[in-house]
Amino acid sequence: MAYPKVVSVVSLKGVGKTTLCVNLAYGLSYFLNKKVLLVDLDPQANATQYLMSQRMYKKLYLAEESRKKTVVEVYDELRIADRQSLLKNCDRFVHRIYKSENGYLYLLASKIELCLMTFQSSGLPKYDEIRRFIESVGGDYEFVFIDCPTVSSMLYAGLSAAQSVLVPIKPDFLSTIGLPLLHRIITEEYPAIRRPDWIGEISVLGLVYNMVDNRLKMTTESMSDIRKVADRLNYDIFESRISNSAKFAWSSKRTLPVFRSEPSSRYAEEIENLVNEFIERIEGE
Ligand SMILES: Nc1ncnc2c1ncn2[C@@H]1O[C@H](COP(=O)(O)OP(=O)(O)O)[C@@H](O)[C@H]1O
Ligand SMILES: [Mg+2]
Repeated sequence: MAYPKVVSVVSLKGVGKTTLCVNLAYGLSYFLNKKVLLVDLDPQANATQYLMSQRMYKKLYLAEESRKKTVVEVYDELRIADRQSLLKNCDRFVHRIYKSENGYLYLLASKIELCLMTFQSSGLPKYDEIRRFIESVGGDYEFVFIDCPTVSSMLYAGLSAAQSVLVPIKPDFLSTIGLPLLHRIITEEYPAIRRPDWIGEISVLGLVYNMVDNRLKMTTESMSDIRKVADRLNYDIFESRISNSAKFAWSSKRTLPVFRSEPSSRYAEEIENLVNEFIERIEGE
């Protein structure tokens, strides 16, 4: 069965992963008519709250009132199914967020109960469930984005479903420090637990600067430090950069990506540029 291109958005710090993941995933369907699924793999459920009205979000908690379920129920159902079986009727798990003539964005939502998965008595969560879910939805999507939590064993669940990762980074001192550790997780720690039937090696699609404030001396200095680390680790850095602006927080409050809440702003243009660069890079992989 066709397995889509799956990109996990990862970083060991809160640097706008969710904001970037939501805007990029939505942007691919909005600007380029792609068929996209966003998987919210963070118990904090910020991507879900970014994209869903409060009314819809509340309904998720009243399971009997909601036709749709969340990633928590995907785990529950796959846990009782045997290891080989796929889920039936995956539509019941996903929410339609946006649809154009040809493209769409669907969301596999999250909720706080997802954190229980990390405390299961068996120790670690089974990492392979998300890949099995994506396999179950088959060719419905061209791209899947996984919004991963910052530091959690669920990060491995995100890695085990993806062929590549995208790493948002804020050009400041503390954000730079985490890169070698993230590299170690991707190239050593995670491969040590990966099973042969999971997806093969993960490539790093690149680093994306977010929350850039060109007025700060720290920005130029950090970018030069990040460039050195990126060269050493052999990571590309995207040309497109996303500026620091409260418009992003406002757009989340309006449950819309920034290019719909502020369509004529420079931030809308920055996201559109990122979408185009992303497609060029991933299709060149
Ligand atoms: N480019 C940006 N400029 C200003 N604020 C931003 C930007 N991107 C994200 N934020 C804000 O930073 C905070 C953390 O972002 P979020 O996407 O939740 O990060 P993470 O998922 O890495 O924890 C949120 O309040 C969000 O609105
Ligand atoms: Mg987040």
